[in-house]
Amino acid sequence: MSFFSKLFKRGKTDAVYEIKSPNGRLTITFVLERGEMTYFVKKDDKLLLRQSRLGLALRDNEPIVDGLGVVRAYSKSFDETWKAYWGEQHIIRNNYNETAIYLEEVSEPNRLLTMRFRAYDDGVAFRYEIPAQPEMKTMTIADELTEFAVDGNARSWSIPAYQPDRYEYNYEEKTVQQLTDSVHTPLTMDVGGNYISLHEAALYNYGAMTLKMNGPALKADITPLSDGMRAHVELPFSTPWRTIMVGHDNLDLVTNRMTLNLNDAPKDDFSWVEPTKFMGIWWAMYVGEWTWAPGERHGATTEHAMQYIDACERLGIKGLLVEGWNDGWEGDWLENGERNKFTKTTSDFDMKAVTDYARAHGVEIVGHHETVGFIDNYESQMEDAYKFYRDHGIRYIKSGYAGSKMTINGRREFHHSQLGVLHYQRAVELAAKYGIMLDVHEPIKGTGIERSWPNLMTREGARGQEYEGGALAPSHACNLPYTRLLSGGMDYTPGIFDVTNFAKRVATTIARQLAYYVTIYSSMQMVADRPQVYEKSPDLFEFIRNVPVRWERTIPLFGKVGESFVVARQAWDGGDWYVGGVTNEVGRDVEIYVDFLEPGINYVAKIYRDSDDAHYRDHQLGYEIEEKIVRNGDRLNIYMAPGGGFAIRLKKQ
Ligand code: NOJ
Ligand code: CA
Repeated sequence: MSFFSKLFKRGKTDAVYEIKSPNGRLTITFVLERGEMTYFVKKDDKLLLRQSRLGLALRDNEPIVDGLGVVRAYSKSFDETWKAYWGEQHIIRNNYNETAIYLEEVSEPNRLLTMRFRAYDDGVAFRYEIPAQPEMKTMTIADELTEFAVDGNARSWSIPAYQPDRYEYNYEEKTVQQLTDSVHTPLTMDVGGNYISLHEAALYNYGAMTLKMNGPALKADITPLSDGMRAHVELPFSTPWRTIMVGHDNLDLVTNRMTLNLNDAPKDDFSWVEPTKFMGIWWAMYVGEWTWAPGERHGATTEHAMQYIDACERLGIKGLLVEGWNDGWEGDWLENGERNKFTKTTSDFDMKAVTDYARAHGVEIVGHHETVGFIDNYESQMEDAYKFYRDHGIRYIKSGYAGSKMTINGRREFHHSQLGVLHYQRAVELAAKYGIMLDVHEPIKGTGIERSWPNLMTREGARGQEYEGGALAPSHACNLPYTRLLSGGMDYTPGIFDVTNFAKRVATTIARQLAYYVTIYSSMQMVADRPQVYEKSPDLFEFIRNVPVRWERTIPLFGKVGESFVVARQAWDGGDWYVGGVTNEVGRDVEIYVDFLEPGINYVAKIYRDSDDAHYRDHQLGYEIEEKIVRNGDRLNIYMAPGGGFAIRLKKQ
């Protein structure tokens, strides 16, 4: 018998299909009972998701939810290994079993629907596919009826959806049954003996999925458009994949690659993309030294840019972000987003002089487009703006979508709505056309699209260090690896050394700022503080200069959601190893077995750690740097202070 089995089929409207993972341990079962669709998920004999409803409600037609019959089903096994251009893992295996069930309504209008299921060893996924058909050319989806019937008592970690600061909230621990208001995905849960995370993959041309309790089950709540509908589409159409990542331990989720695997390989050659580290005319604005808007303390002047370029060259950092270079920041920039001109500089910023100077010094400028969510204004200039940058040799853009909603076609829409999703995708594709790599702030969530579009280098999409100065607790960076980071890399803007600045105090020790380069993945990693601060600490800065921005392999070592996270990563193409660790408000000792090192070889371990008396509240600058020789089989004992962390570079001797 093959891996899949159709257990029984009593006529067209009653059928059960079991789709098993390659190792046989995970099963997603599709049930058609008197024409109604449900599914459930098991690991071994344990039910992870009880029987959960499937279906789509439409504006202009009856819902596609019952009266269905099976026409045929088709199963296949798939196993490939692919190479990423960058990321947390260079070589990725994509191995699953798939069953597509072709359904048709048994009575008129006999509409067609395909349900496609995939089972991986580390999770299951499904999507709705609506083929082209005589009775329907277009479809307006009023509601997606998908349910995820998780145990209501399971603990979960979530951020609220539909809020003014989009994805930028602190994680809250609640039971699943307390999730009565919509929350974003990835939604990670401890279901007793297993961790699961509900998310989606390949989000194109559809509203993003949020989740909320509806009776006894979590239900998909697709971000609506301003007309209340979830999506207007032409057929054929497929929804994004609904995904259920599964791990025995919360650390297992960290290396789950299902989201990427559910996206297609790129259609073009993207070997031109290049991960990078970059400093910025940036934190100086946050500590109040400079301003985005022109004036006496304007940050983005030709002179400042040249000074920072010199510093990048001295410090060995390849990129320099310049914010506030363009016309439109005067007054309340959050209100005046339509005034932004993306091809016009302020009078004190000479784009040609700056980019020529950068080129001569081996530094690349990272451009900046703050749209403030005024999409109509931005899209009318987008192609010219990309050309303008390309003509000046700029290959990186950090974009921004500040504001609680977006203005699209003259209406206010959620970032995560279908129209928002379509805009972000147009930006990625146009950027690819002009050879531009993107770091998107206030983005939509990651759904693995960077596998198909590797120029989508990174995104913000969570509270980052810009919230320091009061709104970030040490536990935040211990939540991210198990929640937000399951959806892809994040520009957390690490590397603040001026942690005690009274204008923007950072609630971490200084050693922990190095840890972030290992614990929080980003293929464009910011070196967020000002150069004069780094030049005062060459001993610590050495780590930032050396740390890679893409990894061959990632091995999570230790940690619990909200408490701590310790991870080892090997440099791209199998080089040196790096280890990073962070803890919440509680100080912790960790013991690291370096059994991932190549056996029989000496490595020089350079350890950057908190001093024994360091503390994120009153002794942030206490650190120690220690060097020792280690070999496979050795152990390292490291202390992380409250709100602290550590970073280690392990270099072959
Ligand atoms: C919010 C972004 O996250 C931040 O990095 C940027 O500096 C401001 N918007 C201004 O664009
Ligand atoms: Ca932001």
